[in-house]
Parts: sequence; C-alpha cells; structure tokens
Amino acid sequence: MCGIVGYVGSKQAQSILLDGLKRLEYRGYDSAGLAMVTSDGMTVSKSVGKIKELEAVLGEEEIVSSHGIAHTRWATHGEPNEVNAHPHIDTNGDIALVHNGIIENYRTLKEYLAQTGCVFRTDTDTEILVHLIRSYYTGDLTEAVRIALTQVEGTYGIAVISTAHPNMIIAAKMGSPLVIGHGEDENFVASDVSAMLKHTNRVVYLEDGVIATVTSDSYDITTIDKVHISPQIQDINWSLDEIEKGGYDHFMLKEIHEQPTTLNNAIRGRLNFDEGNARLAGLNLHREELLNVDRVIITACGTSWHSGLIAKYLIEDLARISVEVEYASEFRYRSPIINEKTILIAISQSGETADTLAAMREAKQRGCTVLGVVNSVGSSIARGSDGGVFIHAGPEIGVASTKAFTSQVMVLTLIATLLGRMRQVSVQRGQELIQKIEEIPSQVAKILANDETIKKIADIYYNADNFLYLGRGINFPVALEGALKLKEISYIHAEGYPAAEMKHGPIALIDDKMPVVVIALKDPVYDKVMSNIAEVRARSGQVIAIATEGDTEIAERVNHVIYIPETDRLLTPLLSVIPLQLLSYYIAVKRGCHIDQPRNLAKSVTVE
Ligand code: G6P
Repeated sequence: MCGIVGYVGSKQAQSILLDGLKRLEYRGYDSAGLAMVTSDGMTVSKSVGKIKELEAVLGEEEIVSSHGIAHTRWATHGEPNEVNAHPHIDTNGDIALVHNGIIENYRTLKEYLAQTGCVFRTDTDTEILVHLIRSYYTGDLTEAVRIALTQVEGTYGIAVISTAHPNMIIAAKMGSPLVIGHGEDENFVASDVSAMLKHTNRVVYLEDGVIATVTSDSYDITTIDKVHISPQIQDINWSLDEIEKGGYDHFMLKEIHEQPTTLNNAIRGRLNFDEGNARLAGLNLHREELLNVDRVIITACGTSWHSGLIAKYLIEDLARISVEVEYASEFRYRSPIINEKTILIAISQSGETADTLAAMREAKQRGCTVLGVVNSVGSSIARGSDGGVFIHAGPEIGVASTKAFTSQVMVLTLIATLLGRMRQVSVQRGQELIQKIEEIPSQVAKILANDETIKKIADIYYNADNFLYLGRGINFPVALEGALKLKEISYIHAEGYPAAEMKHGPIALIDDKMPVVVIALKDPVYDKVMSNIAEVRARSGQVIAIATEGDTEIAERVNHVIYIPETDRLLTPLLSVIPLQLLSYYIAVKRGCHIDQPRNLAKSVTVE
C-alpha cells in the first residue's frame, strides 16, 4: 500500500528519500514521486513503476535540497500514471503533499473548491487536500493543515511541505500508519520504520487524530483540537540485516528459511515444561477473566485469517470453547453478538490492516475484550488491544506471508494450550504438547533441507493453469493457505478445499493436467483422505502428497510424495505448510514472476 518518507535535516535529501522509498517497495505500489524544497522553489519528480524508474527521471545529478517528501502509490482513485502519482501540489506550486488512505468526502470538497476557482490536475481524492490546505493558509502551515483536516472524512497519513517553511514537515494521521524518526540534527517521517532504520532506530509512533510539526531539531505533536501531546520515544531493536536479503535471491526465500529461528523466538521463555503449560504474560487478563470466557471470535484478513481458522480447531479441541472466525471486512459491518464472556482475537502481521483495525475497534466499542496476535510491535493493532501476544517473527518483507503465518499459528497454539490447561487438559497432555512444540523448529529445519525434492516437483508442474489443494480437519486451512501462496506469487489459479467436499464440485475440473496437492498425514482421517486421493487418481489427476515420515504405502498411490516429520496431530499445520510455501516459491521462480512484489498486491493493506 502507499508508502511515505519525509526528511528534514542537513544532509542531501534526495538519496535518503530514494533509499527510504526502496525500503518501502515491499509494501506494494504502482508509481512513485518526490518533492523537495530548493533555493529555486519546489521541485517535483514522478514516475510510473519501480523506484529505479524514478531514479532515471531524476538523472545523475542530485537536486540540492535537505528537505523533502516522497511517496509510493497504490492506486485507489485514478489510474496509476505520472499525473496521479504523489506528491500533489497546490495551484501556485508552493505546497506539496503525500497521502496514504482515502478521503471519502472528496467529491463534496472538490465541488466546494471548484467554486473558489481551484483547478484540478489529477483524478485522485488526495489532490483536494493540498488545495484545501492552501485555502486556509495565512502564514501558519500547521494551522492550515489542522483546519483542512477538520473538513475531511476518511483515512489519512499525510506529510506536507511548503517553500515558505524550508525546515518543516507537517505530518498527520488518521487510520493510516505514520512514524517520526528521531535523528541527530535531522528528523524523518515515514509509514514504517524500515524507511529510516539506516539512520535512526529511535522513533515516535503517531496516534490517530494528531498533527506533528517536524523540523530538523524538534517535533511538536498536538491533537487536532490543539492539545499538546508528549512524544513517547521507542527504540526499535530490528537491525538493518533483518530488512536485507542476506544472500538469498528473494526475501520470501529468506523468510521461509528463517522459520526455525522465528519459531524459536515465538516460544522462547513461554514454555512451562513442569506444568505442561504456556506462559503468556502479555494477555493482561486474570485467571478468573480467562475462565469466564465462553466464546472466542477471531478476526483477520488474508494469511492471518488462515491462522485464525487453525486456531479454531486448536481452541475448540483443547479448551472446548466455541470459536467463530470471521474476515475482518465482514465482521465490522454486521451486528455481532458480543457479551462480557466473549473475547475477540485480532490477528495481524503488520498490525495496520485497515479492516482488522476497524473490526477490533467495533468490538471494543461493544465492550468486548480484545487481544492482539501481532508481529509489528508499535503498530496500531498492538497499541489498541487490551492485551495480546507478540509473535516476534522480525520484519517480514516478502508480500506473501510465510514466517509470520507459522509464528501466528505457534502463538495461537500456546494460547489454546493455556485456555485448555485451565479447563479440561491434564498436566500430562499439556506436557506432551509442550515437548512436541519444542521439537517443531528443528523439524521445520529438516523439511527445509529437503527443498531439492520440492524444486523438482515445481519443475514438472510450473506450467499448469490450475491447482487444487486438499486437506481435512486442522489441515484444511493449510490447504487454503497453500492455494493462496500459489495464487499470490505465481498467478496460477488455485483453490483450497476440504478433501471430502471435492466431490461436490471441484472434481468436475480434474483431468490429467490438474495437479492436486493433498495433505495426507497419518492421523484419524488418513483412510478417508486416501479414498479422496483414489477419486482424483481415477480421473487421471496428478497427486502431490504431503505425508508423514514412515508412511510406506502412500508412495504407490500418488505421483509424488513430500515427507514431513511426525508430530502431535494439533501441531501438524506448522510442518505441513512448509513444503507448500516452497512449492509456490519454486513454481513462481520458474515462471519468472516478481516474487517479493507480486502484481496488484500490497503487504500492508491500509485502506478498506
Ligand atoms: C495483505 C498481505 C497478506 C496478509 C494480509 C493481512 O493481503 O498481502 O500477506 O496476510 O494483508 O495482513 P496482516 O498484516 O493484517 O496480517
């Protein structure tokens, strides 16, 4: 989604802004631009496509300026072209603005501004904002932005500069993420910390409804009603290495291979072997409150929604509490039944997904306790929940989520164990689970070491037009996730289905060109899944099975087998998903796709 970077200091701004934009590339975008205040006034450069196109537009010689804003755009209103790319400028070209979000009442504001003689150059909702700020400007830029924002409905993260204020950026936020980076005689504004991590790890996360006046040596934060806010500086403990590829061809591959480490990070200090239980201090709920829970609602989007589906199996099985899992975009617009015994778990890697954030707020408004299962520590969902558990997966840059998914599932397994141990799970069963959980990271490493087998399978099927993924029980959501991974990065149509449900539709698609990936583990439904495999084979479908090590019969009944180590049936998703991640990765590589930035997708979806 759109990315913002702003710089004010004493260094050359251009290279800092371009480097920041490159760090934000992973968020997904279609065009980019930057504006800088120079001794000759405002200069604006824009391009469609990657940041290297923008670099080409700018040419070899750096523009002399130490004050500017830059943007990567993910089009919502108006097609992705140079004119619609941000920054947008007012009629005189003195004020420039970048925006992430949607101005919902832009039509009404546009009509009003047109009557005052404003001429619009773009098809965007954003452009009205810069004209509106101009219309209120009488010498105080912060005040003009503040008055303009009182007229606006919708979501925004904005950064504004003006030739009249050559050492100042005005930043404001409502629903879209924005962070100030605190440097030595320089300050930054950005949509996320990765854009400024090279220069500083001291940041201030802005809250909704605030305006910040940022200069090279100060920042003043107030609410839209002019109430002063004391900034809370946080130290980010991510290193630059973590946001670089570290020798891998793609971030996605690096992140897939990081999973033994990230899973260890998710469980570190959280396993209590003696009690057969999990330690999760961040939940912020007393034992009585947890015992009182009789319904859990899980809400999320995309891959995070799939980990929510797995959590339903885990919590219902271990804690016997009924769980509903709902897409955040649907949850927020229905009238959910919530009482004091309901808790809502919002799952989000970025912690900024607009729908998940809104669903969480809706639940809070109805008096529901909200827990977050989040990766990004300073994010809006992390800050807005009553408690929760960080997954500690480190920065995830590849658009297709991999390590965040397994860490979410791991943390949700710990939550389910905790709720279960308070209810009907015995110490012995708890200990069994905790021991098996501890083995997971090394088992994942073992699967990763077998990636040659998976690569060979990818070489055979990379030209297929369709894929079907089948799984049952707790591995049905893994089938959905496998299909999503393939769709996202290889653009092959893929569907996930409960294996037995295949007979009610998808079976019509099966012929000798159709690869069918089946999760067929040694569990209570093994025989049933084998029957489903027979149904596919009888119609000449090509079966790739994910099977349990030691299963000697399966190889004769399918075309290819990828083995995973044996574990507790409730933990199998943590292993069965790994070959599916690698399979989609190698297929997409073979098809020459943009792995880390697939077309049309965004890493952090900050609009509805
Ligand atoms: C986008 C990303 C997905 C992600 C989803 C939810 O669609 O491309 O990878 O699963 O958003 O994001 P979240 O940050 O809330 O987990």
